[in-house]
Amino acid sequence: MDAYNPAMNPLVISCSLNPESRSARLAEYAHAAFARTSEDAGLIDLRETVLPLCDGGASYKHENVGPTATAISDAGPILLAVPIYNYDANAVAKNLIEMTGRAWTGKVVGFLCAAGGRGSYMSVMSLANSLMLDFRCLIVPRFVYATGEDFKDDGTLSETMARRTDDLCETSSALSSAMQQLPTTV
Ligand SMILES: Cc1cc2nc3c(=O)[nH]c(=O)nc-3n(C[C@H](O)[C@H](O)[C@H](O)COP(=O)(O)O)c2cc1C
Repeated sequence: MDAYNPAMNPLVISCSLNPESRSARLAEYAHAAFARTSEDAGLIDLRETVLPLCDGGASYKHENVGPTATAISDAGPILLAVPIYNYDANAVAKNLIEMTGRAWTGKVVGFLCAAGGRGSYMSVMSLANSLMLDFRCLIVPRFVYATGEDFKDDGTLSETMARRTDDLCETSSALSSAMQQLPTTV
């Protein structure tokens, strides 16, 4: 990764609450990849930054909601690291979008998925559709999708998965740069 704007402010958000999470490892790898060329690279781990369940009302006043929404609206490209539950992104990822809403407007969004099997590879589409239709996000069409066999015994990413994650960071940064050149009417 060498040809993108270092002021890009890329953000990775890790949505698994599992202490042994594999998608969190994808998120950490992607954050480190972004940080090699962007000193502003951010990582929000929702195990640490706990958000309340969206009730459409008082939950928006929770102390973690405003800072999370600001980090999203200030970000360049955003990578969502999500566990696949019941052929969908987990409820934590959906709740994040519900709690932060318009902060997503016009963002370039990529997905880092951890799943139990290969067959659930289309599972992020409902979340992607919501981001596209509600907030005019540009979804990076090539996801990272990892199962247990994509991690080594020590928990680190396989070479293939590391390369794909590097590619996703690079592509999402390039797209975010390109989006910033467009008029804001998209
Ligand atoms: C409630 C639940 C539902 C799951 N549903 C699916 C599924 O539909 N498809 C799939 O491939 N894996 C499924 N899995 C397996 C997870 O995707 C897998 O454990 C993954 O590593 C979770 O991400 P994490 O390690 O980042 O928490 C499910 C796991 C749980 C706990």
